[in-house]
Amino acid sequence: MAFGGPNNYTGQDMREGHKHLVARGLNDSHVDAIIELLGETLQELGVVAQDIQEVADIANSVRDDVLNR
Ligand code: HEM
Repeated sequence: MAFGGPNNYTGQDMREGHKHLVARGLNDSHVDAIIELLGETLQELGVVAQDIQEVADIANSVRDDVLNR
């Protein structure tokens, strides 16, 4: 969905989905870790740097929603 495929997502929105986690301390460091690990994985799979950056930007674009701010 994030890369323009079909939009079949029917789960909770990012705010609702993570609200109880923010209450337990979910913060920027966790979002950073996810983006970093995702990037490392894509690199291992031979994805080019420009596409990895695009993935990071997409993940970053929901940061404030995930962290409810
Ligand atoms: C790019 C940022 C993130 C995206 C796109 C994302 C996406 C999602 C989605 C789609 C769900 C399912 C929501 C539902 O219940 O319908 C979810 C749930 C969850 N996310 Fe994330 N997430 C992100 C960041 C994080 C981070 C940083 C953590 C913790 C390190 C995290 C931990 C969890 C957990 C534990 C759940 C399950 C919550 C529950 O049902 O109790 N997420 N996330």
